[in-house]
Amino acid sequence: MAEQSLMTIQRHILEEERKHPQATGELSALLSDLVLAAKIISLEVNKAGLVGIIGYTGSTNIQGEQVRKLDVFSHEVLFKAMEHGGHLCVMASEEEENIIPIPQNFVKGKYVLLFDPLDGSSNIDANVSVGTIFSILKRVTPDGGSDGTLQDCLQPGLKQVAAGYVLYGSSTILVYTTGHGVYGFTLDPALGEFLLSYNNIRIPAASKIYSINEGNYKYWHPGLKKYIKYLQEEDEKSRRPYSSRYIGSMVADIHRNLLYGGIFMYPADSRNPNGKLRLLYECNPMAFIVESAGGMASDGKKRVLELMPESLHQRTPFFVGNKEDVQMVEKFIAEEEVNVPAV
Ligand code: AHG
Ligand code: MN
Ligand code: MN
Repeated sequence: MAEQSLMTIQRHILEEERKHPQATGELSALLSDLVLAAKIISLEVNKAGLVGIIGYTGSTNIQGEQVRKLDVFSHEVLFKAMEHGGHLCVMASEEEENIIPIPQNFVKGKYVLLFDPLDGSSNIDANVSVGTIFSILKRVTPDGGSDGTLQDCLQPGLKQVAAGYVLYGSSTILVYTTGHGVYGFTLDPALGEFLLSYNNIRIPAASKIYSINEGNYKYWHPGLKKYIKYLQEEDEKSRRPYSSRYIGSMVADIHRNLLYGGIFMYPADSRNPNGKLRLLYECNPMAFIVESAGGMASDGKKRVLELMPESLHQRTPFFVGNKEDVQMVEKFIAEEEVNVPAV
């Protein structure tokens, strides 16, 4: 029998709430609604490989219904699970260009939800892990039952009150933080419950992994090129050479690095001056989680959580993982800055 006591995510959320006497229970209710969405998406992701076998053809299923792409499906599930709880005033999703209002017939609350419904979705057909990422903020416009606005969404990551991800991998895992510890729960598909499997995750100090799409090497900043070469050199004391691990699904890459120690990078390059990843749906929530686990997240120069977003789908270069690693890549970039022609 395992030593750890059995703890469902629902109980964990309630116990965390009890530690904060001023809590109204709204955030807990919101997180519980997200858990339901995660279970539904998990079921569907697990069935993805069967689509061609049990009667789905092209974009039409056996009942003649349109089959939605999984990222669109996930977006719709999240919206449907979250629209009516009465805790949100507005949502925004990587899959939708503009802010998503709460339908008129539902109560508007004091929270804002930003999400990437399915991260890494281009990997699904190859059975590679994908994830859902979410970020929760408090509204900044007056609370009083009115609709939330773009201004409520465009807040720096430091203002997040909770963030998490669900990784649909060899098993489905939900990891979340409210800024006081990072907790991971594994879905038992038979019970339909997420059970605590990682209590208070801390990123291991002895980092040894780097994750980056090295195919873009030619387009990188010279400082980043030097940093990667540095990681590949031999030096026992600093555990080099590092191992290279890149799945191409950020949630999976960061989850592994969080457990084993390492740095994940999606840098700017000469073709994409702001990198690829989205500040609001991808970088801020992952930065909040990794920082809460003792790590660090930077855009190469500045702390990601302090960046002031100007638009919903804004991208940012992203370096996240062990503090020493992120500080080191910042140093390499700064040292070569003088040699980079101004754009
Ligand atoms: P999404 O599927 O939400 O568009 O995001 C995919 C992201 C991220 O998960 C991953 O780290 C990155 O794209 C991979 O990009 P490259 O193929 O350029 O390496
Ligand atoms: Mn994504
Ligand atoms: Mn996505």
